[in-house]
Amino acid sequence: MTITGAAKIAGVIGWPVAHSLSPLLHGAWIEAAQLDAAYVPLPVAPDNIAEALKALPSLGFRGVNVTVPHKAAALESADEASAAAKAIGAANVLIIREDGALFADNTDAIGFMAGLADLDPSLDRPAVIIGAGGAARAAAFALSECGVSEVRIVNRTLSRAEELAEDFGASAVDWARREDAVSDASLIVNATSMGMVGGPPLELNLDAAPSDAVAYDLVYAPLETPFLAAAAEQGLRTIDGLHMLIGQAEPSFEHFFGRPIPRGVDARGLLIQALEARA
Ligand code: ATR
Repeated sequence: MTITGAAKIAGVIGWPVAHSLSPLLHGAWIEAAQLDAAYVPLPVAPDNIAEALKALPSLGFRGVNVTVPHKAAALESADEASAAAKAIGAANVLIIREDGALFADNTDAIGFMAGLADLDPSLDRPAVIIGAGGAARAAAFALSECGVSEVRIVNRTLSRAEELAEDFGASAVDWARREDAVSDASLIVNATSMGMVGGPPLELNLDAAPSDAVAYDLVYAPLETPFLAAAAEQGLRTIDGLHMLIGQAEPSFEHFFGRPIPRGVDARGLLIQALEARA
């Protein structure tokens, strides 16, 4: 696909960024929509992030996605921020306004909810989030907004769980009590990095989990984590991490290019193919 000198430019800032699937995804949408646009990877080291963000308006960017480890810095550098970005304490999208001002948003919570849309777990039983990092914050914000009766945060480091729980009216649960915490849950979310390719699995015995619970893993490489495999074996319904990845990218695209994603792109198939090529 060719672009002209008038192309609309967006991208993803991270460190490292070579593993990011966003250029592939946005590139496929740009091509299908036949836009005069490009979405480029922008590897920016932590020491250079403030300078890089400040330069985006003068370089003519429409906006950028922001990934690890720059999401908090992106929020700090913005002139304005959405309620979601403020509550989560991080931005995964920066939009550059016509006057050059930076607007920070966070579409991770929308992405998280997109994953739940098909399975629709009951909101009147507790939801359990395992983890207390950035992904867990987005999930806790999303669940607190949609009226779940009770949200429990379980984390290896209890103080981080307590801090997160306080911010979102949830309760913190000791790591040693995680199996009890899921025994009456309608939704169990892995928002830790455990289960990622090359790392240790999430150790969580699901014997006590209700048979109608939904297991949701925010990890997408591998697509079927040991947590999801164990949940499926037990007959629980499962949601993999690609749903959230695609779900946060869709509103980002709309922010950058001023139109919804085009129909007819098999985003999931494309990403699965890319992940398989890496394996
Ligand atoms: P992110 O922003 O992607 O969520 P993070 O802030 O580094 O990343 O959070 C990683 C999460 O995985 C944390 O909840 C972390 O637990 P701690 O707060 O105790 O560090 C969790 N985690 C990572 N490795 C873990 C392990 N081996 N056992 C238990 N929890 C782990």
